[in-house]
Amino acid sequence: MELLFLSIIFVAALILSCIVLLKYKCDRGHPNLPPGSLGWPFIGETLEFIRSSQKGSPESFIKDRMEKYDNRVFKTSLLGEPGVAVFCGATGNKFLFSNENKLVVTWWPKSVNKLFQTCLITTKGEEGRRMRKMLMTFLNPEALQRYIGTMDTIAQQHLGSHWEGKDVVKVFPLVKMFTFQLACCLFATITEDEKIARLSQVFNVFLKGIIEIPLNFLGTRFYRAVKAANMIRGELQTILEQRKVDLEHNNAPRTQDLLSHMLVTPDESGRFLTEKEIVNNILVLLFAGHDTSGSTITMLVKYLGELPHVYDKLFTEQREIIVSKKPGELLNWDDIGKMKYSWNVVSEVMRLSPPVMGTFREAICDFTYAGYTIPKGWKMYWSPFSTHKDSDFFPDSTNFDPSRFKGEGPSPYTYVPFGGGPRMCIGKEFARLEILVFLHNLVKRFNWDILFPDEKIEIDPMPTPAKGLPIRLRPH
Ligand code: HEM
Repeated sequence: MELLFLSIIFVAALILSCIVLLKYKCDRGHPNLPPGSLGWPFIGETLEFIRSSQKGSPESFIKDRMEKYDNRVFKTSLLGEPGVAVFCGATGNKFLFSNENKLVVTWWPKSVNKLFQTCLITTKGEEGRRMRKMLMTFLNPEALQRYIGTMDTIAQQHLGSHWEGKDVVKVFPLVKMFTFQLACCLFATITEDEKIARLSQVFNVFLKGIIEIPLNFLGTRFYRAVKAANMIRGELQTILEQRKVDLEHNNAPRTQDLLSHMLVTPDESGRFLTEKEIVNNILVLLFAGHDTSGSTITMLVKYLGELPHVYDKLFTEQREIIVSKKPGELLNWDDIGKMKYSWNVVSEVMRLSPPVMGTFREAICDFTYAGYTIPKGWKMYWSPFSTHKDSDFFPDSTNFDPSRFKGEGPSPYTYVPFGGGPRMCIGKEFARLEILVFLHNLVKRFNWDILFPDEKIEIDPMPTPAKGLPIRLRPH
């Protein structure tokens, strides 16, 4: 009994000294830090952060602290990082987005760095800029125009095989299958159904470990994610080796897909990516490019099912495009340009249910923000949740209203589903095209009813309906 009592005292003393040490380490020389709580040693406030997302209200973590401490910036500790300043509001977003490489650089949690290794998202400064520029030549609007036909063909095949003739479908797993298939095809010409299905399963394991404390031992989500990432890398490396041979023998066009693009295109300083960097970049684009769009399309289907007047207006716009096409004629760039209301609807979906909860930056020097000191090495976090539902920027903010995006649209730095500044999402245009192409094909065939109107939306790490969003299809 006595021993137990002593042990409890010892552990309590240890925890207390850790807290004091951590606080000392964070505050040392910086008495004017933003207000907030650093939570528990090492885990900080990570559990509260993750729990608020899993409960479906990630904004509560930020909103509560904005109200409690300061609505411009507060401090916390997340994902093993002892000092994190959360920048809030349009001013916070503007500050972070416009000070890249001046006061801050992009930063991802250790789990992300360990899983993705050297690639676009983990490369900073001048090298990051060069790599980004090289990848952009594949992902800019001009280059992507030539893939609209492929996107249309894959959407038609997908809906034909998995939706047509069905009474009830589960939207989320199907849409993820579509966006993954499209990414596999356009990034690495992986087209075999069986291979895509296998990779997709592994990817799901990988995804669950990305925003986790990086504890790499049996049983943790992170451990499973590391194994999954290595498995996918192995598959991609095999494809890369074959492609090099094909390119050497002129058996594959140099513009075939992103893989070939990276193999044959040097950056502006004449350097080619290493094989490892190419594989890592495909891994990152497969990841960033399918779940984000998959979550957006799923939430789009949910809102359209709940709001018949929005569906009707959107269908009227899409019908004009449908009747203008000859039988078998694929969508093209002009058609996409006509989908203005449809894109406003998608934008409103991303305002209310942003697929990405936020990202980090790191301070590269001490600086002052809102009167507080942000020390060098501290991490900063921004989130669409600090502005997207603020009634000052979006009047009647809980109301679904696509007209917010008409004309000039929302004020700068208030609507930020794709982030901003030099590290803004590189796949924004790709996402716009794949979402609109899928939407066109979906409403061309069906209207639908939501089976569980109150289905819970979990954020894990993206908005995900707990039951997969089952709907009853009503073919036109
Ligand atoms: C609806 C779909 C999407 C959303 C909402 C989204 C959102 C975001 C956000 C918020 C960021 C961080 C920006 C920042 O820190 O300022 C980001 C970065 C990124 N996204 Fe997306 N994304 C989407 C689709 C895509 C697609 C389709 C691709 C690939 C084709 C992609 C590739 C990337 C990459 C590589 C980065 C890192 C860029 C860098 O660090 O320079 N994303 N995205």
